[in-house]
Amino acid sequence: MADKSKFTEYIDKALEKSKETALSHLFFTYQGIAYPITMCTSETFQALDTFEARHDDIVLASYPKCGSNWILHIVSLIYAVSKKKYKYPEFPVLECGDSEKYQRMKGFPSPRILATHLHYDKLPGSIFKNKAKILVIFRNPTDTAVSFFHFHNDVPDIPSYGSWDELFRQFMKGQVSWGSYFDFAINWNKHLDGDNVKFILYEDLKENLAAGIKQIPEFLGFFLTGEQIQTNSVQSTFQAMRAKSQDTHGAVGPFLFRKGEVGDWKNLFSEIQNQEMDEKFKECLAGTSLGAKLKYESYCQG
Ligand code: A3P
Repeated sequence: MADKSKFTEYIDKALEKSKETALSHLFFTYQGIAYPITMCTSETFQALDTFEARHDDIVLASYPKCGSNWILHIVSLIYAVSKKKYKYPEFPVLECGDSEKYQRMKGFPSPRILATHLHYDKLPGSIFKNKAKILVIFRNPTDTAVSFFHFHNDVPDIPSYGSWDELFRQFMKGQVSWGSYFDFAINWNKHLDGDNVKFILYEDLKENLAAGIKQIPEFLGFFLTGEQIQTNSVQSTFQAMRAKSQDTHGAVGPFLFRKGEVGDWKNLFSEIQNQEMDEKFKECLAGTSLGAKLKYESYCQG
């Protein structure tokens, strides 16, 4: 589905830079949020202000490790049905790459698919002004933290954490790539019911992939037959995506499509860490609309 040369070329370059970077030097802070120096630069963030979104852009917004590559694949297949095969002229994460990319993007055909891990208040204003549609993908914090840990510690070229406990501490403080999960969530909480916004929960997709996929073309204003949705869901299972991951994402593919399960946190969280997470969740999201949407009690307790 992806244009292999551009997509994997970018990932390979980031991995090459990662090889020479110690964890203690991996992050830089821009407007209060930590980003990896291997993927982001302040020049690109400054240039992002000039980015002009289009009405027919589709924005896929998520905190890292919440399933952005999954949704990207599903949406690309949806477009492939109604338009011709979708190719990524650039690495699809909006804030990653060189500062000239926004200039190049002006020439890309519509509809453009833009993935991003930026917090709501850091998104370029033109996305809202021009009413681009936004799919917001959330995953519960426990499995997100575990996925983060494995990504760092399993991929040979990415700097590792000393232990799970170390990653957990940094995750809770928001000292990981793209900052705090909880700040990201608090920031999005008030905006999830907007006209051009659609909330998708990773755990719901796992529960019923075809039903999850069906809502997306409806939101985007496309019609897909039941058969087309079925085909999409067969091609979007974890197993199907993992099997092709080296072709679509290069050497990092099998690490990116690691386990794809709900509840893997139980293999790493101690009881105390689980309690700390419950407290943090309560403090940040209890009684909020997003807090209810995440179904935290079902997925992160017990
Ligand atoms: P795990 O590490 O728990 O396996 P992102 O794409 O945002 O980096 O998120 C990566 C996580 O999404 C990984 O979680 C990955 O396995 C999971 N994922 C990717 N595709 C998936 C699919 N088709 N079904 C279920 N999970 C998927």
